[in-house]
Amino acid sequence: MKPWLGPEEVAAAGEAISSGWVAQGPRVAAFEESVTRKVGAQAGVAVSSCTTGLHLVLHALGIGSGDEVITPSLSFIASANAPLYVGATPVFADVDPITMNLTVDTIGPAITDRTRAVILVHQLGMPADIDPIRELCDANGIVLIEDAACAIGSTYQGKPIGGRSPYVVFSFHPRKVITTGEGGMIMTNEGAEPTRLRALRQHAMTVSAFDRHESDPADFESYPEMGFNFRMTDIQAAIGSVQLSKLDQMVQRRRRLAAQYRELLDGVTGVILPNDPVYGETNYQSFCIELEASFGLNRNDLIRHLHQRGIASRRGVMASHLESAFAGSSSGTLPVTERLTARTILLPLYHQMTDSDMGRVTEAVAEAAVTRV
Ligand SMILES: Cc1ncc(COP(=O)(O)O)c(C=O)c1O
Repeated sequence: MKPWLGPEEVAAAGEAISSGWVAQGPRVAAFEESVTRKVGAQAGVAVSSCTTGLHLVLHALGIGSGDEVITPSLSFIASANAPLYVGATPVFADVDPITMNLTVDTIGPAITDRTRAVILVHQLGMPADIDPIRELCDANGIVLIEDAACAIGSTYQGKPIGGRSPYVVFSFHPRKVITTGEGGMIMTNEGAEPTRLRALRQHAMTVSAFDRHESDPADFESYPEMGFNFRMTDIQAAIGSVQLSKLDQMVQRRRRLAAQYRELLDGVTGVILPNDPVYGETNYQSFCIELEASFGLNRNDLIRHLHQRGIASRRGVMASHLESAFAGSSSGTLPVTERLTARTILLPLYHQMTDSDMGRVTEAVAEAAVTRV
């Protein structure tokens, strides 16, 4: 992945710096409004990362010790860490072998009378099947939180991810489709209250620093509860607004590159290629292939094979339950997770990728497919 940043982002960041207001202020508010409009949500609360956004939502919901939160193990570790931050127990459920996401069939058996929330990840931008999961959650009095870290620009039932559940959290880390360096945003819907989230991200203060700057200097803020410093800066938001204006172009480009990959790798023995599910479209935040046993090399050897040819690839998605940090965590057997984490690999995909780059990668993969070691 290479972020697609240019002179417009440089100018926007420079303009924020020249203004003298570099912490959370009017540019953060404007960025929140633009993202809210773009994804069809009710409100947006910018935060310092998707991780802090997930933490903040769980905290605001009063989820804590004794509570369980169902989440995939097959995800970046943040999806499992967030419940731990509030003292709750992450319960790992397995994923669908094609979309790599939780389903009603994998979540159902993990529900207990202590389950308070499901963190539904749209893995690598691939939309999960939200509606049936929502029905299951509603029937059991469980809150559905979408971890849409990778999924800005993906769609579900013809609409952008971000406007469907009470809480949907995006990441703007440089590995994601649009970036603010670090950053995230909680989208709220269906009457979920953004006001308290906005206060909690800034130490729960009743009047923000920017608003105090503009009002009666003797009108002090108060702190009715414990809060956090999870703020985004105006410099980041200025960059984010420019990036957002390029989102459609970036997603179109990624989807075109993915189609090219599918064409060029079609028929290569032992490679399973990603595709859109019937109910939505992925933004191809990553192009993740699975290697079957019939492929010439195992996953790690393919990473080395590509590296020797000057091509950077990455392992597919990690599995949190296999990390020491989660040793002894409550999970049943996770056979699909364990297979996918061992056999998946992310191929290069970035806006500036040329036909010649694409040719080098696909030729190197095809060469490895027939290599026996
Ligand atoms: C599924 C998922 N959730 C959460 C995160 C964390 O995002 P951030 O780096 O913005 O905290 C990531 C980042 O890779 C992710 O892939």
